[in-house]
Amino acid sequence: MKTKITQSPSIAARFIQHGEVVAFPTETVYGLGANVLNEEAIQKIFIAKERPSDNPLIAHVYELSQLELITSGIPAIAAKLIEAFFPGPLTVILPKNDKVPPVATAGLKTIGVRMPKDPVARQFLRACGAPVVAPSANLSGRPSPTTWQAVRDDLDGRISCILKGEQTKFGLESTVVDCAGDRPVILRAGAVTLEELQTVIPQTQSSTGTGGGLHKSPGTQHRHYAPLAKVILTTFPQYTVPMNSSAYIGLESPPNAGAFKRIFICKDYEEYAHELFHFFRECDRAGVETIYCQTVVEEGLGLALLDRIKRASQV
Ligand code: TXA
Ligand code: MG
Repeated sequence: MKTKITQSPSIAARFIQHGEVVAFPTETVYGLGANVLNEEAIQKIFIAKERPSDNPLIAHVYELSQLELITSGIPAIAAKLIEAFFPGPLTVILPKNDKVPPVATAGLKTIGVRMPKDPVARQFLRACGAPVVAPSANLSGRPSPTTWQAVRDDLDGRISCILKGEQTKFGLESTVVDCAGDRPVILRAGAVTLEELQTVIPQTQSSTGTGGGLHKSPGTQHRHYAPLAKVILTTFPQYTVPMNSSAYIGLESPPNAGAFKRIFICKDYEEYAHELFHFFRECDRAGVETIYCQTVVEEGLGLALLDRIKRASQV
């Protein structure tokens, strides 16, 4: 299959309307979209990504009225979060209705929903005229794509179209929040922090990070975010020993910085999040064999960052 690369949201949307899959930018990472009501198109997402069929997809809406097309009722706490964080990098889990094919949600009775803020994503979703289900637009297991070139590296020839945009603003995926109980529970840490959620609903809890893990998103059990290089989480940069082809990313510079094949010192957690997946992919392209990632504190964006780095370091 020839993959069309375009900057036109309306051309990209036409592929969706014809039952094809399209990669598009959002403020978190690039997504690989299909019409939420088209079962055959959704199956193409799973095939293109080689995604396990037990991993449910997130639906992306252009406006709140589209929620009625795919959900059945919005719990009060979800409504509060939607009011505070839509459009933005937050996904809320809602009860789904019968129109959504089971393949979209891996058989679950719920569906994750989010409304992106990125202007190109919004133009695209508006032109599609229907909610679009989309996982991250990477091959399953690889780091999520933060540039259109990263999408092309993974999916060229496997999908119909890539909608070209800028490098994504956050560089990490959305925060996934379960709203079925009496308080919101973070199932996957992401670009909206626990602290930000707590300013709206102070009882919000995290099931990720230390001490958590009771109920998590199905997808967070799969190996994820991994470059080809071995990832090592390091607490003390002063002890990292640069080997032949190693790289380093973190907040503080290690000694012998010049001996690393690639190095990125981030000024804060935002920059660390913005660069992490991009850095992984650049290291792979440069033939790096070992990537040291400096650890972060589990607060603010650190919760999501540490989750991604830890998972990337699992073998
Ligand atoms: O920022 C993002 O969320 C990006 C952009 C494209 O929107 N999407 C993304 O999708 O990261 P994906 O498929 O790579 O990750 C979705 C996560 C998975 O961990 C999945 O298990 C979880 O959300 N999820 C989706 N629907 C769910 C549901 N109904 N219940 C629980 N978890 C769900
Ligand atoms: Mg993903």
